[in-house]
Amino acid sequence: ADPDPLMDFCVADLGSSPTFANFPCKPASNVTSEDFFFDGLMNEGNTSNLFGSRVTPGNVLTFPALNMLGISMNRVDLAPNGLNPPHSHPRASESGVVIKGRVLVGFVTTGNVFYSKVLGPGQMFVIPRGLVHFQKNVGENKVVILTAFNSQNAGAVVLSTTLFDTNPSIPGHVLTQNFQVDSSIINGIQSNLGS
Ligand code: GLV
Ligand code: MN
Repeated sequence: ADPDPLMDFCVADLGSSPTFANFPCKPASNVTSEDFFFDGLMNEGNTSNLFGSRVTPGNVLTFPALNMLGISMNRVDLAPNGLNPPHSHPRASESGVVIKGRVLVGFVTTGNVFYSKVLGPGQMFVIPRGLVHFQKNVGENKVVILTAFNSQNAGAVVLSTTLFDTNPSIPGHVLTQNFQVDSSIINGIQSNLGS
């Protein structure tokens, strides 16, 4: 989904702010082999949180050599029963492969059709660009998934926080009207999400 590259590489100089979609390039004379390799997905993410999940990004912000190349990957760790909560990526389609464990993977179309399947190690899935999806650990052991995107920085809109944990808050009357509930329910969701 990202634009085509104009050069062999443009290792991001993260110290400068992005111009349009790309970061300025690190001077080629400072680029070494180390720039093109990334260890950040080797280690298990910390899943001690509300959702029992952790997404570890391998995108342009953590692996600057991805700048301009239109690709990135994540590691998703799910504790038993853990949920990577419903979210969408505005800038990329997602594919993924389960490395360990049993995972319920689901997504919803713009027509509100829900597609899902339980996957095990080696099985792959695809989430079309922009569609809301989740992964949930439905086995007894830890889950590891590797996901891949056709963007250097796919972005993530997490439905729960995008409505209930914004800065500043969306006015309560908008949320009560949207969900047709009274404000105690909205307040309950907000405090459960930790805001
Ligand atoms: C999983 O859905 C991910 O975005 O890495
Ligand atoms: Mn995703």
